[in-house]
Amino acid sequence: MTPKAAADLQTPAARALAEKIKSKTAKVGVVGLGYVGLPLAVEYAAEGYHVVGIDLNPGKIDRVNAGDSYVGDVPTSALAPLVKSGHLKATADFSAVKDLDTINICVPTPLRKTKDPDMSYIVNACEEIANYFHPGMLVILESTTYPGTTDELVRPILERNGLKAGKDFFLCFSPERVDPGNPKFQTKNIPKVVGGYTADCTEMGRLFYSQALQTVVPVGSTQVAEMVKLLENTFRMINIGLANEIAVMCDGMGINVWEVIDAAATKPFGFMPFYPGPGLGGHCIPIDPFYLSWKTKQAGIEARFIELAGYINGNMPHFIIEKVQSALNDVSKPVKGSRIHVMGVAYKRDIDDVRESPALDIIHLLLRRGATVSYSDPYVPEISIDGAALQASGESELAGADCVLIITDHKAFDYKALASSAKLIVDTRNALKGIQGTNIVRL
Ligand SMILES: NC(=O)c1ccc[n+]([C@@H]2O[C@H](COP(=O)([O-])OP(=O)(O)OC[C@H]3O[C@@H](n4cnc5c(N)ncnc54)[C@H](O)[C@@H]3O)[C@@H](O)[C@H]2O)c1
Repeated sequence: MTPKAAADLQTPAARALAEKIKSKTAKVGVVGLGYVGLPLAVEYAAEGYHVVGIDLNPGKIDRVNAGDSYVGDVPTSALAPLVKSGHLKATADFSAVKDLDTINICVPTPLRKTKDPDMSYIVNACEEIANYFHPGMLVILESTTYPGTTDELVRPILERNGLKAGKDFFLCFSPERVDPGNPKFQTKNIPKVVGGYTADCTEMGRLFYSQALQTVVPVGSTQVAEMVKLLENTFRMINIGLANEIAVMCDGMGINVWEVIDAAATKPFGFMPFYPGPGLGGHCIPIDPFYLSWKTKQAGIEARFIELAGYINGNMPHFIIEKVQSALNDVSKPVKGSRIHVMGVAYKRDIDDVRESPALDIIHLLLRRGATVSYSDPYVPEISIDGAALQASGESELAGADCVLIITDHKAFDYKALASSAKLIVDTRNALKGIQGTNIVRL
């Protein structure tokens, strides 16, 4: 399906909405003001649109309305003036939808314990929207999900009062690709893929995003757009799985895997480096591929790469525990009774997000083996392990530790000082690259 040019939009409703979008008089709504939704809301408010963010979390609503950011990629200095000028406000009240022209849905899509998709956030948000839905609106789902969600789950809810997608309103899916903590690529300059239910829907989505984002990539359907995101994240998950398997192989053969990958990456074509680590983390890579495997299972297709990479990546925390155990054995100490200090608990460098972080699994496993565990992380003051709170600690625990375990390679850590002071370090991220010492054990 080739998207039509703006001038080709067929219905009066389409032309009217297109005019509002182009003249920036369209009222923009963002449902879910998290890592994805808040940066998007800020981009549109900064372009001069009036934006309403709808969230269920009263703490987030209060902070947005106070101009105080809680998302690392959105500086308070960018948020506060937009709130002050009245271009951005937050509410928990879905009746705000009555006045909106566009809605981007950015709610969570976690997995249930059984690894089945939990669609309840999308369903709840859409049901609330449907209560106040009106003709001429553009609705774009951005939450990562299985192919078919927009058409099979979202559309029937929005159509339940008689409005028809593609005729009375415009419906799209656009995968969110935000990479929290990435200083180079943020919401504005990450190319935005968008696919609509009809060609007019796609064109409306393209028109909407091209007002605030640098590059828009229209595709022929909502299903293609949904699948794009799953291909991207599955590609990453499987390649990290391969890097982890190679790391385990290299470990068994006494080869430095980091040196291998760095040297392989000098090949100017046909190779792309991925790195091993303590396991997958975050709201995307460990989760999204299972949305795909769940859906393909219904079509009788087994997602064997995904299952295998899931198994290998899921085993990494156990492999790291064995690494710690054998490093302590070399200095004649069992894990039981040892003091272990974990450096970094966020799922990746220089961010505060601990969702699915392998550090949580690793700390749980260490505690179960009888170790005393402390941690430091400049971005995460407290974590919860098996329902109990654990606070970040300072230098004293680090100095007294039998083993320091680097899980997240935050730039703020002083690795040189650590290498010269710690008794024993197990480095799962190659954070000590270039530093030598008999006290250093690398993945
Ligand atoms: N965080 C990332 O790096 C990232 C990257 C790409 C895609 N995504 C995808 O984007 C989606 C959102 O992720 P996120 O990281 O922003 O999640 P988040 O948890 O940071 O934010 C989601 C927000 O939605 C709100 N919410 C939940 N149910 C709601 C409802 N019914 N109505 C209104 N608000 C509701 C929550 O209170 C929360 O503030 C997910 O599908 C995720 O997979 C996330």
